[in-house]
Amino acid sequence: MSTTTFSPYTLGKATLANRIAMAPMTRTRAIHNLPNDLMAKYYEQRASAGLIISEGISPSPDGLGYARMPGLFTTEQIAGWKKVTDAVHAKGGTIFAQLMHAGRIGHVHNLPRHARLVAPSAVTAPGQMWTDAAGMQDHSTPHALSHEEVKIVKSEFVQAALNALAAGFDGVELHSANGYLLEQFLSPHANQRTDEYGGSLENRARFVLEVAREVSTAIGKDRTGIRLSPYGIYNDMPHYAEIDAAYTYIAHELNTIGLAYIHLVDHSSGGAPEVPLAIKKAIREQFKNTLILSGGYDLNRAEAEVSSGFADLVAFGKPFINNPDLVERLKHRLPLNPVLDASTFYSAGEKGYTDYPVYSEVSALV
Ligand SMILES: Cc1cc2nc3c(=O)[nH]c(=O)nc-3n(C[C@H](O)[C@H](O)[C@H](O)COP(=O)(O)O)c2cc1C
Repeated sequence: MSTTTFSPYTLGKATLANRIAMAPMTRTRAIHNLPNDLMAKYYEQRASAGLIISEGISPSPDGLGYARMPGLFTTEQIAGWKKVTDAVHAKGGTIFAQLMHAGRIGHVHNLPRHARLVAPSAVTAPGQMWTDAAGMQDHSTPHALSHEEVKIVKSEFVQAALNALAAGFDGVELHSANGYLLEQFLSPHANQRTDEYGGSLENRARFVLEVAREVSTAIGKDRTGIRLSPYGIYNDMPHYAEIDAAYTYIAHELNTIGLAYIHLVDHSSGGAPEVPLAIKKAIREQFKNTLILSGGYDLNRAEAEVSSGFADLVAFGKPFINNPDLVERLKHRLPLNPVLDASTFYSAGEKGYTDYPVYSEVSALV
């Protein structure tokens, strides 16, 4: 029988019911940075995804750039996430925690007291950020991490990964995409360091690779994945001459480390420059484990990627927001929910979060 989007898949220690992943999506419902019952309900509703990748979760108080972004560095946060993972597991799902340190993308109003906005270099990102305290604000200027502080941030990632397992997650995804801290190190624009973490592409990749190595040593390489967005421009990530060489090198090194997966996101469906097929192929060639593709997928495109063997899994983002039963709808070729309210992507509360209907509720009305 040919491989389809609905075939099971073995990802490290986990057996996934299908090859559809729910892409990581920040939903800013974590009041005081704490996961709560409402979030457990949201994830439970979407547990039929083969793999849920959680919203970005900060490994450190310094990484909480967004208002109401959850953390994974206190016992209370671990207990909160345990409710989420228990709810997903009870429905037969698998869930990885996306570890996202926002780095320079943030505002001090969103950080707890004594926390600092940090980055490879003190290069302020243009643009603005929502704060609950004072509305839209320019991004704060980040503090450039000292050499010693770089080591501390690495240890925060390692501890957060251990905390993720303590909270019942099946693994972690390192967020090295979309212009956040890990990608800030990769970028010659955001990273202007003169130590061994800056300069050449190998030096700029060093922090990401060290985090990947140390996290996978701590929790198991079969439980560690990473997200990359080559050619992404989101959050002030201008293109540079060596992008292809940089990502080919990174994929090769990640393969040597033996990570469980690379999750490659192409934001061209949202208007960003397309990720050239050549670099996707180069990454596929260098990296022998699981490849997840994402960005603007529908069932037909997902089937094509999976049945050709180019992708092992395909991640869907927005369609999971308004279709909690997305897998069922795709499998039975049922219509997707035409209503998607972007104004509630980053609001608080259940509206636009846990109140989207499953298909059987809609069909009962007609
Ligand atoms: C509301 C929202 C929040 C998002 N938050 C994150 C995030 O926390 N981490 C991340 O890697 N990507 C994030 N993304 C990007 C998605 O994971 C995904 O790559 C993007 O939506 C494109 O996929 P789609 O076309 O299937 O929606 C977010 C997207 C949306 C719409």
